[in-house]
Amino acid sequence: MTTTTEERWEPAHGAPYHPVPYRPERMEPAESLTRSAELRDRMRQRRSVRQFSSDPVPEQVVRDAIACAATAPSGAHQQPWTFVLVRDPQIRRRIREAAEHEERTSYDGRLGEEWLAALRPLGTDAVKTHLTDAPALIVVFQQRYWLGADGAKRKHYYVDESVGIAVGMLLSALHLSGLAALVHTPSPMRFLSQVLGRPENEKAFAVIPVGYPAEDCQVPGLKRKALDQVMVEV
Ligand SMILES: Cc1cc2nc3c(=O)[nH]c(=O)nc-3n(C[C@H](O)[C@H](O)[C@H](O)COP(=O)(O)O)c2cc1C
Repeated sequence: MTTTTEERWEPAHGAPYHPVPYRPERMEPAESLTRSAELRDRMRQRRSVRQFSSDPVPEQVVRDAIACAATAPSGAHQQPWTFVLVRDPQIRRRIREAAEHEERTSYDGRLGEEWLAALRPLGTDAVKTHLTDAPALIVVFQQRYWLGADGAKRKHYYVDESVGIAVGMLLSALHLSGLAALVHTPSPMRFLSQVLGRPENEKAFAVIPVGYPAEDCQVPGLKRKALDQVMVEV
């Protein structure tokens, strides 16, 4: 089953306000509590995975997760994102080679001691097996601007924030659907536009390998901040 049943979207730039009713069914508080507790516990189990099994994943689950991400709110509803789903092993290999080339320079000193120290507890290095072991990569691009019908460049607003929220929703959807993922940001990421032939208005935001953890997968033993360290109630 594909997800292309929606109406095609066109930019509404300059169109008048057109309200429509919104009446979602209200959930009983008891039901909300059950669901929020369950969701909190399931989200706590999410971890970034860097060692993947090469087992295939159900392709529709990945497409559905991207469809979830594409419901994210965005500045002026401009939806400034493109998700490139890469399964082709040769392209994944090219991405890995280019990423490792950049990462070697980064880990050999480009990052600087402070950044390297921040990364040390994660145990990462320049070898990026996840880019070829995971059966799928989602390469997320942010659209810095769009081109009007007249060919003029038009600004997108709050692009970083919008794409960040969409990626958060993508990670949640993948996790809650039983798949593991990693946000990988090899720096610089210009090679991704070249390898994937993306247009000039798009800038790579992250590479997200998706799959199942390898049988012997290990993750860094990290702690998360307690709720009272991140939340202030006024
Ligand atoms: C914006 C962003 C960039 C990241 N870049 C990388 C990366 O390049 N390589 C990597 O191994 N992990 C990367 N991560 C993953 C983080 O290291 C990871 O989320 C963090 O250590 C917490 O671990 P957890 O996701 O298992 O809770 C990135 C995460 C974010 C949100």
